[in-house]
Amino acid sequence: MFLRNEWYVAGLSHEFVERPRQRWLLGEPFVLYRTASGRAVVLEDRCPHRGAPLSSGEVCGESIACGYHGFTFDPEGICTHVPGMQTIPREARVRACPVVERWGWVFVWMGAHHEVDLTRLPDYHWLTEPGWEGRSEYLSVKANYGLVRDNLLDLTHARYVHRKTLGTAAVTDHPINTEAHGCGVRVTREMPGIEPSPFFRLMGGFTGLVDHRQQIDFTPPCHVVINTRVRSTAGSAENRSAEFHVLNALTPETERSTHYFWGLVRNFALGDDTVTETQQRLNRETFLEDLSILEQQQVLLDCKPDGWRPIATRNDGGCVQAERLMNRLLEAEVPMRKVQ
Ligand code: FES
Ligand SMILES: [Fe+2]
Repeated sequence: MFLRNEWYVAGLSHEFVERPRQRWLLGEPFVLYRTASGRAVVLEDRCPHRGAPLSSGEVCGESIACGYHGFTFDPEGICTHVPGMQTIPREARVRACPVVERWGWVFVWMGAHHEVDLTRLPDYHWLTEPGWEGRSEYLSVKANYGLVRDNLLDLTHARYVHRKTLGTAAVTDHPINTEAHGCGVRVTREMPGIEPSPFFRLMGGFTGLVDHRQQIDFTPPCHVVINTRVRSTAGSAENRSAEFHVLNALTPETERSTHYFWGLVRNFALGDDTVTETQQRLNRETFLEDLSILEQQQVLLDCKPDGWRPIATRNDGGCVQAERLMNRLLEAEVPMRKVQ
């Protein structure tokens, strides 16, 4: 069950090229391509003629021709050409999703066209904002997107899963503050006067004690922005500060798999490509550690005994609030869908 009237990330801009690509979104097949004029297009990838994937065909100018018998569809999903036929069957059309391309990411609206709401577009402006630098990447995760979201909302796992990179005992020793508001959940953890983690020793050059703040913002349906700010503790010999945003868009591929689009941007060492390469590599390695746990978790949750329930502690506050919010939104949206 997925929220439809929302923006999801369908792909990174550079994934939209003339050669069509199939990508499943919310359990359904879509074809992604870029037209000759540069427009990013997302269409249902099931040809209404006989059900072949349009992605098996090719892009011709603004349109795409199915690879089976050549039915051709424009970016609105309307069939404009049937080889050898003068008339085009009225029902020859595929679903076309509204698309917004911004900050190097392509967002797709998965709900009704008449309900497109640009004010609900998630904010990832740091990806192109002067004063911030970093890159975006893609990971395929064989786990439900809610498990990935919960992984990001409870960073106490860093002490165990990421002991070589982000790990610090402080993350479990300092409590979180959870705030749920109408349109999201914020989790904050202040860790004053702690030893810097291996990541910040390497990336920020910290050696002395630091004040480390984590702020995690979840925006439905699947957007998580983690802001990490590290500063030398007042009075220490060092006077350093560093800030990162980890930008996470968790698009459901199916109920059990997720397209994980992530970006990492920093506000220091601008213009230093070596730092960019290192931060991307370290973060990628960190996420692969998460991925290993998440995929095993999915397998075990798939066969959980009747009545098995997770245990929620104070550290799970963000996860619990996010799930409640999602359930409320789903309860509100699903009956409306049945009426339409
Ligand atoms: S199945 Fe696409 S043209 Fe026939
Ligand atoms: Fe993690």
